[in-house]
Amino acid sequence: MKNVKTFKKMKKDGSKIVMVTAYDYPSGKFVQEAGVDIILVGDSLGMVILGYEDTLKVTLENILHHTKAVRRGANSTFIIADMPFMTYNLSIEQTKINAALLITEGGANAVKLEGGKPSRLDAIRAIVDCEIPVVAHLGLTPQSINVLGGYRVQGKNKVEFNEILDQAKKIEKAGAFMLVLEGIPEELGKKISESLSIPTIGIGAGKFTDGQVLVYHDILGMTDFKPKFVKRYAVLNKDIPISIKHFVAEVKDRNFPSEEYIYNPIIKEEK
Ligand code: KIV
Repeated sequence: MKNVKTFKKMKKDGSKIVMVTAYDYPSGKFVQEAGVDIILVGDSLGMVILGYEDTLKVTLENILHHTKAVRRGANSTFIIADMPFMTYNLSIEQTKINAALLITEGGANAVKLEGGKPSRLDAIRAIVDCEIPVVAHLGLTPQSINVLGGYRVQGKNKVEFNEILDQAKKIEKAGAFMLVLEGIPEELGKKISESLSIPTIGIGAGKFTDGQVLVYHDILGMTDFKPKFVKRYAVLNKDIPISIKHFVAEVKDRNFPSEEYIYNPIIKEEK
């Protein structure tokens, strides 16, 4: 299994790191078979699995439940579990307990949290002090949606640009081993990636980050909304309903089950 040292070396060698989200046993199995370097059990599960409008209602129990399932499907891939909203914001003690649960019960190898302000740096330091690897997340941080005023690209003016760059440097100093950069101009993604020795993983952050991450359902075209940064490699939001409609029609028309799907042994007299 790849690990924090492998990822650092991949950055040094200029070898791109691929992260994909997964939320259950089959998606874990598929992404591992596809050869991803890292699986993220993201709190995006609130939207793509649980049908919430945003990620704010996701609980630690949700992430734990899904991380365990992903681990059953992907036993040889490095897994990062997202820390949900308000599970690392209340106290350092609670933060450590929550991070530890994702590792000990969930089977994750690392945890991820959002933001770079001083209290987040304290949280990163505290978790790292427990020997738990931490991934940070800057730019468009979905847990701050109500403060950011929507899903908007961040760092578009000089003040924000420099603030995010400054936070990225502090995050590295605080001990995070990786940084996810979401929804920022390519120029900022490049600047941060060149300024840090830890790998950066981009989602809507341009081509210069050390790796890329996309949400499983976006890659497969299972969602209706397609942001600019998403490339779909399949269109399952069309193929899935077509397949189910086909089944419905065949049952209604008495075409399913046909002979090949039916058990028809000759019933013996004796046992
Ligand atoms: O929750 C998630 O899936 C994420 C990725 C979009 C980086 O945080």
